[in-house]
Amino acid sequence: MRVKVVAGSTSVPLGRGIAKGLGASFVETAYEKHPGGFPDGERYVRVLGDVVGDDVVLVQTTHPDTKIVELLLLLDAVRSLEPSRVSLLIPYFGYARQDKRFEQGEALSARVLANHLQMGVDEVFTMGLHNPEVLKFFDIPAREVSGMPAVGRYLMDRDIDFVLAPDDGAVRHAKEVAETAGKPWDRLQKTRLDSYTVKFEPKRLDVRGKRVAIVDDVISTGGTVALAAKELKAQGARHVLAAAVHGLFTANAWDKLAVCDEVAASDTIPSRATKFSVAPEFAAAIRATR
Ligand code: R5P
Repeated sequence: MRVKVVAGSTSVPLGRGIAKGLGASFVETAYEKHPGGFPDGERYVRVLGDVVGDDVVLVQTTHPDTKIVELLLLLDAVRSLEPSRVSLLIPYFGYARQDKRFEQGEALSARVLANHLQMGVDEVFTMGLHNPEVLKFFDIPAREVSGMPAVGRYLMDRDIDFVLAPDDGAVRHAKEVAETAGKPWDRLQKTRLDSYTVKFEPKRLDVRGKRVAIVDDVISTGGTVALAAKELKAQGARHVLAAAVHGLFTANAWDKLAVCDEVAASDTIPSRATKFSVAPEFAAAIRATR
């Protein structure tokens, strides 16, 4: 049984990297039947290779929404080609942060996605979840792969002296990176006032004259990292690098992030901040299950 990698349009470079890491072939996909696509903007997919009897790894981030539709189409296309096994690899699991019904009448979005995406799939891999409990929404084996070794590799080359977790949720990530890099770390206590605004409890940090990396799972509006960076600069940090596995950069994130000397994210969501790849992490996780 040969492993073959198919990727949705958000995840082509990452899919190629995973294929390379596995020594597998990368199967091309067409996204337009006619140049320019359908006039009404609807998606089209066609998997262009033969995967009959093969072990297919389908890679696609579920953000933004159009990519979810594309993934549903890709799943159908892949299954129609009769592979023997389908692994769904979701580099960034969009909607995973709505992991509960916070208010009566709300959709439990993470479960909705899990239910629909797992049809005809044998196993799921994803990364950097806000709450790993969402894996339980899948009825098939579902694993979270850590992207922090990739963050750690990147920081090793950036000559960092100190690692900061901007909130409790980031502690497990910052700790993993700091321990890998053999650097000291600390944390801030964050309170979220609304989707765009956060505040920190005052705290003295040992960062004067240092090159500091703020490590988080995701940068979304940039509010968390920008405020942490301001605090670090106010306390004398010489250089502030914000590093996350997932870079969403919504709203005016880039304006806020101007306070950082550097912003880096992985290729789970391609952007101008994509500076390192998590392909080795995903390739190793897939290899371990074969
Ligand atoms: C929250 O718990 C996460 O770890 C991130 O800190 C948060 O999602 C970042 O969001 P934003 O960039 O909008 O502050």
